[in-house]
Amino acid sequence: MIRQILLYSALASQAISASAFELSPKSAVIDPQQLEQALEFNQTISKALAGKLKKRLMAAVKSGGLEAGIAQCKIAAPEISQQLQEEHPQVLISAGRTSLKTRNENNQASSWQAEQLQAFDRIKSKGREAGVRYRVLESKGKLAIESMSPIPTQGLCLNCHGSQLNPSLSAKLNELYPNDKATGYSLGDIRGAFVIRSWLQEQ
Ligand code: HEC
Repeated sequence: MIRQILLYSALASQAISASAFELSPKSAVIDPQQLEQALEFNQTISKALAGKLKKRLMAAVKSGGLEAGIAQCKIAAPEISQQLQEEHPQVLISAGRTSLKTRNENNQASSWQAEQLQAFDRIKSKGREAGVRYRVLESKGKLAIESMSPIPTQGLCLNCHGSQLNPSLSAKLNELYPNDKATGYSLGDIRGAFVIRSWLQEQ
């Protein structure tokens, strides 16, 4: 476990032995340059998702108030993910969000993702800034790089994820998400993470 975490956070300065990730012998080593490129690519996608989401959320709240924002939050992430795939047809991508306390259960973290989210919280609680974490995995018969970037809670987010929600908004959220766990956050808390997976091209 410790060895894996070290690899996740290590810089891509040396070839990564795939055996550390329990991969098939066929995929023994990933070229460090390819890994670095994939990580950079994932960051581009992550930043695009973050930027586009916030823009759509702000536009919805401005024109239709917070209730319109709720509807936007539900559809925006999958739509943007689809759009990003269309913009980068050469690479298979999956882009989404997760959290230790989800509002939509479909966003629940895998066990690896939950470990990284806990690490983000630990790093944050020590007053340091959490950075990107990644792993190499085999999925759909191919190697993929999955990376996670922390999402800090900003002022806007508190309207729907904070401790004191407007009662009618809170009622609406309860109606739509009876198992909502995503409230009680404070400014600067790590609300969750963007999760980007990109599949490596055969070389
Ligand atoms: C207008 C209300 C609203 C605002 C403002 C809002 N969110 Fe959300 N958020 C939601 C809803 C609704 C969902 C569930 C979306 C779905 O169904 O997938 C959600 C889901 C999420 C998720 C996915 C994980 C989960 O809990 O299901 C993250 C991460 C998240 N929000 C972060 C943020 C951040 C960061 C901000 C501020 C920049 C923010 N939200 C602002 C309503 C809001």
